Amino acid sequence: MSQDAFRLTSPDGKSLDLPIHRGTCGPDVIDVATLYREQGVFTYDPGFVSTGSCSSDITFIDGEKGILMYRGYPVEQLAEHSSFIEVSYLLLHGELPTAEQLAAFDRTIRTHTMLNEGMLRFFNGFRYDAHPMAMLSAVVGSMSAYYHDTTNAEDPEHRDIFSHRILAKLPTIAAAAYKLNIGQPFMYPRNDLNYCENLLHMFFAVPAEPYEIDPIAAEALDLLFILHADHEQNCSTSTVRMAGSSGANPYSAIAAGIAALWGPAHGGANEAVLSMLEEIGHAKNIGKYIEKAKDKNDPFRLMGFGHRVYKNFDPRATIIREMCHKVLAKLGRKDTPLFDLALELEQVALNDDYFKQKNLYPNVDFYSGIIYRALGIPTSMFTVMFAIGRSVGWTAHWREMISDPKGKIARPRQLYTGSPPRDYVDIAQRK
Ligand code: ACO
Repeated sequence: MSQDAFRLTSPDGKSLDLPIHRGTCGPDVIDVATLYREQGVFTYDPGFVSTGSCSSDITFIDGEKGILMYRGYPVEQLAEHSSFIEVSYLLLHGELPTAEQLAAFDRTIRTHTMLNEGMLRFFNGFRYDAHPMAMLSAVVGSMSAYYHDTTNAEDPEHRDIFSHRILAKLPTIAAAAYKLNIGQPFMYPRNDLNYCENLLHMFFAVPAEPYEIDPIAAEALDLLFILHADHEQNCSTSTVRMAGSSGANPYSAIAAGIAALWGPAHGGANEAVLSMLEEIGHAKNIGKYIEKAKDKNDPFRLMGFGHRVYKNFDPRATIIREMCHKVLAKLGRKDTPLFDLALELEQVALNDDYFKQKNLYPNVDFYSGIIYRALGIPTSMFTVMFAIGRSVGWTAHWREMISDPKGKIARPRQLYTGSPPRDYVDIAQRK
């Protein structure tokens, strides 16, 4: 990180040189850490539109050019040549693994898939129709109770075990939530299967008959997990970092990230896209919904459109769009009309002045739900799938945050707009 200075002059003529940090890629960053001490003012940036909350070596996004890189590798290359397990190693350790390292990592993840039996009983306490994201967040939070013995953040071995457990057990927890929802018996993981095959087995196999795993389904899931694996300081990742910055148990920090991801403005959008497409129902209704999305007095937004960072295109959406064609063609599922509707909606929006002027393009969630549905995954599980992919990004960021020797508890300041000081009024005198 090289350094320069940015001169800031206050209205009373006092100037302050603020260091400018230069990263390896992307815009320079003005370091305002001394501003309050030197000038007595805070910066104000609700939603962190122009604020970097940390420095990070993990992921880079150029929203103007539509670039996404994990540890310097373009996501398009990883999507084409790599696997989710290899990408997970890359995100956690910073480098692509050798063949031996990859084999050892894969073995470790395969052998951490089972849950403590007590955790499985936890599911008996949920209503049969509980939302799987609610169960995921609660059960991952409960890992802090089951695996409290290995959460010494100072110990690199503990950090590794924590990372492996999150990555390996999330599909098992997700599958348990799904089986509870549909009233089927829980299927134990099979360590002879790879990550995505095992997930499909736990979701769709039943004890009564053999289940054949569709390689296209496993390939599609693997791709989706690669594309969702990390996205720098997004809402859920920032939540994990913030919760973890107090030294909180890391499983609790991941549970907080899952809660943040659930929101419809974030990972919940994939579920919302499907509901929206079903509501639109037919191409003849597209115009009406486009008008609703543009109407400031109507809360409706085109779900799966727009992104805080991507103002040109979301490279993940481009890759997923291609995968949609492949999955629907190979699986020959009945969702093709929904995909056709999505393609038509995309075209209408992309040619509409409102969407063009505001740089609103399809994001990763616009198409991912269509693939999940074609794979037989119910809508309520879409955000859970996103969480499984993103869990490795959260873990990588937690590790980076916790091992930063200059790390501080995250504690933003505010612009106070409440009442000025006033005296307590006795209850008898209040009107
Ligand atoms: N439909 C219609 N108008 C939109 C949309 C949309 N999907 N997205 C943004 N706009 C408009 C806003 O009304 C606003 O207009 P204004 O400037 O006239 O007020 C302008 O575009 C900018 O939008 P903001 O909400 O200020 O942009 P922000 O960066 O804060 O929000 C977000 C980004 C949350 C993704 C937003 O585009 C949105 O709500 N999209 C729909 C939900 C969605 O798809 N979320 C998934 C994001 S990707 C992910 O988390 C994996």
